[in-house]
Amino acid sequence: MNKLNKRLKFAVVGCGAVGREALSSALKLESVECVGAFEPDAKTARSVAEAFGINTFAELDVMLDKTKPDCVKICSPNKCHADQAVLCLEKGCHVLVEKPMATNIEDCRRMLAAQKKTGGILAVNFEYRISKLFAKVNEIIESGKIGEVRNIFIYESRGSFMGEKGGWRFKKGSAGGLIAEKLVHYIDLARFFSKSDIVRAFAFHGPNTISHYEFPDNAFLILKHANGAQSVIGSHHGIQPEWAFGGYMDMGDPALAEKRHKWWIKTGHKDFAMIAGSKGAVHADTDLETVVANIYVPCDSRGGQSTRCDAEYDLSYIDRMEQVHDQRGMLMHFFEAVRGNEKIKTAAEDVLNSMAATFAAEKAMDSEAGAGVDVEN
Ligand SMILES: NC(=O)c1ccc[n+]([C@@H]2O[C@H](COP(=O)([O-])OP(=O)(O)OC[C@H]3O[C@@H](n4cnc5c(N)ncnc54)[C@H](O)[C@@H]3O)[C@@H](O)[C@H]2O)c1
Repeated sequence: MNKLNKRLKFAVVGCGAVGREALSSALKLESVECVGAFEPDAKTARSVAEAFGINTFAELDVMLDKTKPDCVKICSPNKCHADQAVLCLEKGCHVLVEKPMATNIEDCRRMLAAQKKTGGILAVNFEYRISKLFAKVNEIIESGKIGEVRNIFIYESRGSFMGEKGGWRFKKGSAGGLIAEKLVHYIDLARFFSKSDIVRAFAFHGPNTISHYEFPDNAFLILKHANGAQSVIGSHHGIQPEWAFGGYMDMGDPALAEKRHKWWIKTGHKDFAMIAGSKGAVHADTDLETVVANIYVPCDSRGGQSTRCDAEYDLSYIDRMEQVHDQRGMLMHFFEAVRGNEKIKTAAEDVLNSMAATFAAEKAMDSEAGAGVDVEN
């Protein structure tokens, strides 16, 4: 790919929380020009134009024709991703599309076909892969220290999705379901850490504690990988009080943020990953902000096997968003890939199996019995 040394022309599609975050990060860069944003809601469009001083458009094709961006980030509701990504690619843009890539596998394949035809970059915003905490886990796995990955356990207990009742995020048709909207991050991590495709998905859920989700607010998934490894992913939504949500978000006042963070943990927020390999295991805890690598050793006093702590990484000096949700870092990486300076780490082709496994898990969960569903890439 030829190097692009000029100022990059960047546009955003969908100006909700994530779209505005992308604009705010990009506007700080000398090397990037924010040429426009597509937002169909007139009130939101007006407030974005005012707050960021950029041109907003009510039609996507008009924005693309008038502003001719080199690259776009798609931050619209999930069901819009496929058509919009295909259009942007066909208009000659490189595309970073928010997760989930789309809400069904046919749309993902259609997007990939457009990427291959046009030769543009099509990357999916799986920022967990580059966020500092999970990147450290991957670094340990790739060092060979824990041997071959055999079992992965990832669990999150958290509050309800934010957003208005009846909004797109709470509907299966527009969001794709709990697995597509949220657990897709963990499925992608399971695929990323294990280095092995997911071939079969089992999924189970219990009754909801949140009544306004039109899909389960909890899930347990068992994923079988091609190399025999197994991943277990669990999630429950609805445990923390609204005021505690600021723990990760409100970093303006460090003392307040710290207090909220402690309360968030006390009220039951939990987010961790345990990866067991043939020679050791690595444990990442987003609440403790640590990554610990353990190596299996013989246990002299009791016989059998024990573990020795090989390395402990305290990541609390890094901003919490950067540890887990490094949206800014992902956008910077995308810009560098567009310039030809870095190889994109979340190319659509490389994450297709994560998406296929997501849809297989959604199907298994819909069966009520959690029946195993073969993953079809
Ligand atoms: N990577 C992550 O960690 C992460 C976190 C949160 C959200 N997301 C994803 O980002 C995307 C946006 O989420 P959000 O939290 O900003 O949602 P949001 O509801 O805050 O914003 C969505 C915006 O899209 C606009 N919109 C509606 N229909 C549209 C259309 N047809 N075309 C373009 N825009 C349209 C809405 O008016 C709204 O302004 C979703 O795909 C979501 O799954 C990713």
